[in-house]
Amino acid sequence: MTPSTGPGLTLPDGFLMGASTSPHQVEGNNVSSDWWAIENRPGSFVAEPSGDAVDSFHRWPEDMDLLSELGFNAYRFGIEWARIEPERGRVSRAAVEHYRAMVRGALERGLTPVVTLHHFTCPRWFSELGGWSSPESADLFAAYAKVAADVLGAGVRHVVTINEPNMVALMHTLMRRAVRKEGDPAAAGGEHTGAAAFEPGSLEPDAGVTRALIRAHRAAFAVLKEADPALRIGWTVANQVYQAEPGAEEVAAAYARTREDVFLEAAREDDWIGVQAYTRHRIGPDGPLPVPEGAATTLTGWEVYPEALGEAVRYTARVVGPHVPVLVTENGIATDDDDLRVTYTEGALASLAAAMRDGVDVRGYLHWSALDNYEWGSYRPTFGLIAVDPRTFARTPKESARWLGSLARAGRIPGGAAAVPGGGPSAG
Ligand code: BGC
Repeated sequence: MTPSTGPGLTLPDGFLMGASTSPHQVEGNNVSSDWWAIENRPGSFVAEPSGDAVDSFHRWPEDMDLLSELGFNAYRFGIEWARIEPERGRVSRAAVEHYRAMVRGALERGLTPVVTLHHFTCPRWFSELGGWSSPESADLFAAYAKVAADVLGAGVRHVVTINEPNMVALMHTLMRRAVRKEGDPAAAGGEHTGAAAFEPGSLEPDAGVTRALIRAHRAAFAVLKEADPALRIGWTVANQVYQAEPGAEEVAAAYARTREDVFLEAAREDDWIGVQAYTRHRIGPDGPLPVPEGAATTLTGWEVYPEALGEAVRYTARVVGPHVPVLVTENGIATDDDDLRVTYTEGALASLAAAMRDGVDVRGYLHWSALDNYEWGSYRPTFGLIAVDPRTFARTPKESARWLGSLARAGRIPGGAAAVPGGGPSAG
């Protein structure tokens, strides 16, 4: 299909256009991680284990070749704590070298690396200590960040300390519930689609874990700045795009308070803030409402709502403040209809362009995801710009990848009328 890109918005110099992945979802055989342990225990609530994932642990050069050939100038990937520190205090130099090679590989291909230190998975030993509820968690994370600085020293400028801390705090509650249900055959199996398990619904994020994550972020920030003051450090928050139905404004604000705002406010001293948005969540007087009747939904059951991105970016800038630039670190759609991926992304970019025209300082757009990958319990929801054959691991870029790559090459996104006023400094 040929999407109508309209006159377009010319992107400021240095704008990052690329795609994202996370280690556990693409590397495969993340055997020292807590997720691997959960996936593989008998009776697990996780429907499908990650196994080889898409073998990016070995195939990262091919992944980066493709992204760069497609026209992108940035790649967000993660480094895996469980590989770098498989036992408490024991650093795998081989793992550090592996990730240093990835950083160099990205730079050689003209891809700016945006590197995540923690994306949902922890080393098994860390979880066994109590994970984020252990009193030592912030110090342990800061010690890992110190080792990670060695990887970043290979040429990284943009670092994410913790991916979606707000989802991590919710998952803590969710996991406890799911584990309680594991012994219950009525609750096991079924139509589990991975990401659906992370639907915030009416779950309350764990307040202790929230505080621990903020402490860990600040501690890692300090350690990383000491290692290299030039690093641009932030974290990435899952924006739920809460929309209050008439009369439910206070309920919606209370939802946003503990699930989003507290994490955004913790970014006010950061170098940038990551926005991750997929859909909206309508809130009525009694809490979250279902997807509106007749609305199109994705393979994760989420409403197809491209405007979520622009709304999330505006909300984030309002809460964090205009002095902290925004990087879109995730936005995408789980679908096997690639035309829909293009239409959705076109709408999302148009809403982003409108926010930028209105003055929000956005420095990059990284699509989720570069590849079809392991969606936390299932391979069924395909978010990728690049398809992967599960047997041969052969990669095939989709039309959406070519379309988005051509926008990156042209330095223009749909939906805007002109260049952003005054251009803008380089990203982050
Ligand atoms: C996460 C990704 C996930 C994506 C789609 C984000 O919450 O950072 O790991 O795959 O959304 O569900």
